[in-house]
Amino acid sequence: MSLSPESPVAVLCSGGDAPGMNAFLRAMVRLGLNRHETPVYGIRDGYRGLVRAARQVEGDPEGIVRLKQEIERNTGHRGLIDAQQCIIQMDHASVSGIMGKGGTILGSARCLDFHKPEVRREVITLLEKLGVKALVVSGGDGSLTGARLLAEESNLRIIGVPATIDNDLQFTEMALGVDTAVHTLVWAVDHFIDTARSHRRVMVLETMGRESGDLARMAALASGAEMVITPEGGPMTEASMIALAEKIEGAMTRGRGHAIILIAEGVRFEPPQSRNGAYILRDAFQKYFQREGAPFQDLEVRPSVLGHLQRGGHTTPGDCILAARFAEEAWKALLDPNGINGITALRYNKVEIVPFGCPDLPERAIHSRAMEHLHDDLSNW
Ligand code: F6P
Repeated sequence: MSLSPESPVAVLCSGGDAPGMNAFLRAMVRLGLNRHETPVYGIRDGYRGLVRAARQVEGDPEGIVRLKQEIERNTGHRGLIDAQQCIIQMDHASVSGIMGKGGTILGSARCLDFHKPEVRREVITLLEKLGVKALVVSGGDGSLTGARLLAEESNLRIIGVPATIDNDLQFTEMALGVDTAVHTLVWAVDHFIDTARSHRRVMVLETMGRESGDLARMAALASGAEMVITPEGGPMTEASMIALAEKIEGAMTRGRGHAIILIAEGVRFEPPQSRNGAYILRDAFQKYFQREGAPFQDLEVRPSVLGHLQRGGHTTPGDCILAARFAEEAWKALLDPNGINGITALRYNKVEIVPFGCPDLPERAIHSRAMEHLHDDLSNW
């Protein structure tokens, strides 16, 4: 379906927020208004906002008229400050000053209801009634799956935009938010080093990333953390934890005073454990350092789960630039009468649209292994 300039394009942020979502929204709105003369609707709280709006008008013939009136009346900031308004016609001012801000001014949510085909049908009907012919979804794996299903089940033009600090989407080299989250982790490691050095301690820091070790790996390489443990390395066992503790002890014997160990949240243990990896490692290391006759029985280990800190903060220039490039490509695909539904991706340093379900970049896994190897050699003390 081709898009006429007067049909609005809807944009939403879904799943875990990622730095760069605001920069992306700003770029979508400004390109829509300045370059393509096409209005942009911002959807509040991701798919959940669409479902809420669909429910508001359901079974009420006047409902859709009222919703349209609300959208026309409360544009830009007026719409944004009313937490009940799910669909907002964005203007220049509403995206002013947001580029570097973490989070998303539209709000984001995980919407379990959207797994149901009948709920997606309600949303498709709503968008059709509003005259919206295209939807742009920024988010991670689950959100992009939702976008793919909408593309399969409707005549809407659908573009997905990878935005997740996990960097676990293997068809793109980078997702929005990764660069900023790595910066935040480097900042955090620097702070932990100060106290680790003062007390001659081992700090075990747990990073986010779901099943992927990419965030931890990149942060380790950029911060100089002494060790990084990722899910791709396979499950940790008693023996592999002792091997790491031996390595740390060896470094202490050679005069090293402290160590920073990063462990990705997705690392599994054998036998399985329900506690956070940082705490499991702390116990294993501490037990090893305090064994009878050990040379550094006073060596203390402190764990920290860094958590949602990693999702916030000022967006880096790298993420702002990628956001602008993704937005430009999304618009190009939407306005091309032969354009496909799909996802913006950074491949071989070029931004392009790949179809939903596009195979992984084989280089991603190779790069991950190489990065970990490089880190090992750089951090060998
Ligand atoms: O996908 C982003 C992410 O931050 C993961 O790294 C983490 O496992 C998860 O989201 C946390 O989700 P929530 O914000 O729902 O606690």
